[in-house]
Amino acid sequence: MTSEVQADASPEHFPEHLPEAPETLLAAWLPANDDPVRPLMTLSTLTASGYPDARTVLLSEYDDSGFYFHTDSRSRKVADVTRDPRVALTLVWPGRQLTVQGEAHRSSMDERGWAYEHRSRYLQQLAWLNTPDFAELPLAERLTRWADFDAEHPALTPPDTWDGFLVRPVRLTFWQGRPDTASRRTEYRRPTPSTPWTRHHLPG
Ligand SMILES: Cc1cc2nc3c(=O)[nH]c(=O)nc-3n(C[C@H](O)[C@H](O)[C@H](O)COP(=O)(O)O)c2cc1C
Repeated sequence: MTSEVQADASPEHFPEHLPEAPETLLAAWLPANDDPVRPLMTLSTLTASGYPDARTVLLSEYDDSGFYFHTDSRSRKVADVTRDPRVALTLVWPGRQLTVQGEAHRSSMDERGWAYEHRSRYLQQLAWLNTPDFAELPLAERLTRWADFDAEHPALTPPDTWDGFLVRPVRLTFWQGRPDTASRRTEYRRPTPSTPWTRHHLPG
């Protein structure tokens, strides 16, 4: 379903003849990995209690294997995906949405290092200071400690808690709304991340 407000009047985001694999569409929909403006995605995980959990993370980068996000190894999301790697990702733009089902597994050490280097200085520092103890401090103390840390550490390397995951997709659903006809989805599916894709259209 769409509304006039959400529908994107820009040209069709799908080629007439859909490629057999989704990589071309992903390249058209997602910014290049060296674009400093990173897309936001909702990462949904399965918790031990059975409730789903969801939160916003940055899409650090993507490649033919899947979608990478980075986080703190002590976080709830890491506990969730360590217990059950099945996740969903949702990315949304005006008039467009991409939803992903897949499996999240820890990315390589090299990849995690690359991602840290490409984070802004603010986010590199956040990876060091975003702790439960820091969060308990009053604002004045948080400002002082942040500024002191910044002054004392002109160059930063990743803390031990810097963590990264690759989501290898088994389902990719591209949704496009239009003001002049019905919204529609194009879906790619495969039973496992190492089997070929099938593709079909769905109503929006
Ligand atoms: C715009 C935005 C971007 C965020 N990006 C990240 C991110 O890339 N990695 C991350 O761990 N948390 C990120 N967060 C914080 C998460 O949404 C979340 O609050 C935090 O990671 C704790 O999640 P958890 O307790 O469910 O593990 C972001 C939050 C916002 C609002």
